[in-house]
Amino acid sequence: MSLWYPYAQMKTMSPPLDVASASGAVLQLTDGRKLIDSISSWWCVIHGYNHPVINAAIQQQLTQMSHVMLGGLTHEPARKLADKLVAMTPDGLNHVFFGDSGSVGVEIALKMAIQYHKNAGSHDKTQILALEKAYHGDTIGAMSVCDPVEGMHSLFAGLLPQQRFLPAPIGGFDADESATQHNLKLLSAMLDEHANTIAAFIVEPLIQAAGGFNFYSPTYLKEARRICDEHNVLLIFDEVATGFGRAGSLFAADQTGITPDIMVLGKGLTAGYAGHSAVMATDRLFNAFLSDDESKSFMHGPTFMGNPMACTIALSSIELFEKEDRLSRIQQIESILKDRILPITGKAVKDTRVLGATGVVEVDDSASLQGVQNFAADRGVWLRPFGTYAYTMPPYVITDEQLHQICDVLQAWFKQ
Ligand SMILES: Cc1ncc(COP(=O)(O)O)c(C=O)c1O
Repeated sequence: MSLWYPYAQMKTMSPPLDVASASGAVLQLTDGRKLIDSISSWWCVIHGYNHPVINAAIQQQLTQMSHVMLGGLTHEPARKLADKLVAMTPDGLNHVFFGDSGSVGVEIALKMAIQYHKNAGSHDKTQILALEKAYHGDTIGAMSVCDPVEGMHSLFAGLLPQQRFLPAPIGGFDADESATQHNLKLLSAMLDEHANTIAAFIVEPLIQAAGGFNFYSPTYLKEARRICDEHNVLLIFDEVATGFGRAGSLFAADQTGITPDIMVLGKGLTAGYAGHSAVMATDRLFNAFLSDDESKSFMHGPTFMGNPMACTIALSSIELFEKEDRLSRIQQIESILKDRILPITGKAVKDTRVLGATGVVEVDDSASLQGVQNFAADRGVWLRPFGTYAYTMPPYVITDEQLHQICDVLQAWFKQ
């Protein structure tokens, strides 16, 4: 087989489903079956497949230029997207550096944070603080801030930079005072002891996604902002998964009322049409790179950063998000998911949780999810559980009927 598939044992992998085309929330398979995509192709196809507005924008841009480097050249789509992102993200994130995937966005964020301190004369702040259960991507720097044990990357322990980790916050989205205090005490103690070597604290705000769908409280992040400031540690929000509505607000940061020093966007940024990411930074951060000394410049520049097609797609996607009021639709999706997913019970079920357009059923043992993918496909739904999690993160254009079909499948699986 010439094609090597992701996250798969190629010797024993079941044959993947062959997709001929896709439209709205539906994948059309070559064997004639149609499946509702319950996970938006790894959470990025936020407006569904084959959206006529985005298709038209791409076609128009294609007649101008498909690509031009951003080193020494500039173009309107990149400038317009940067302005738009600054206007729509939390106050103070005034600068945008583009990358070509979520993982590369995380790499950029980590490099920026460390160089920020070096440019300011602190040469010992070279470590990053992250959370257990975190997932930030599959490149070396990003892997180093994923959960060191459960995060798929323990094999590379000798290669990865040694970072510091805190236990994942407990208590869920509505954590009570004692859970929040417990979480914050751990953060304070860590920074009291190690802030001299820690450049930044990186988190997936509110939803730790691929590392186990741990939801946690906005209050934790609000207080983390204060604690990080007290210790001269930067705060990085990795919103690759949560950005563009997935946690119920445009950005998860919007529910915290704070501005991180650096914010990484990916996935929904380009609505599943192209790989791209945007790393947003505050004036404080950006200004630390301004100097007559060339060595203080940020030495990074992926070939496809600011690709005009990707920027045009992102602009078109953001316009759709606003014009078609996706946030209201996300609230309706959340309400259906709460009605249908939260009550799911069964011997295997450990927990159910919903936030925004994200619904999760956690089981005690991954064996209880064996077969669920085929069970769902037989019932017209594309579901791809991992570990002990069956979940849905549907495209926001999904119809109520399609969403109920996904929930029917999950309910039927856990009932049997
Ligand atoms: C929070 C988070 N950060 C980073 C990434 C990596 O993004 P990409 O797969 O585009 O490299 C992911 C991907 O799932 C993610 O969920």
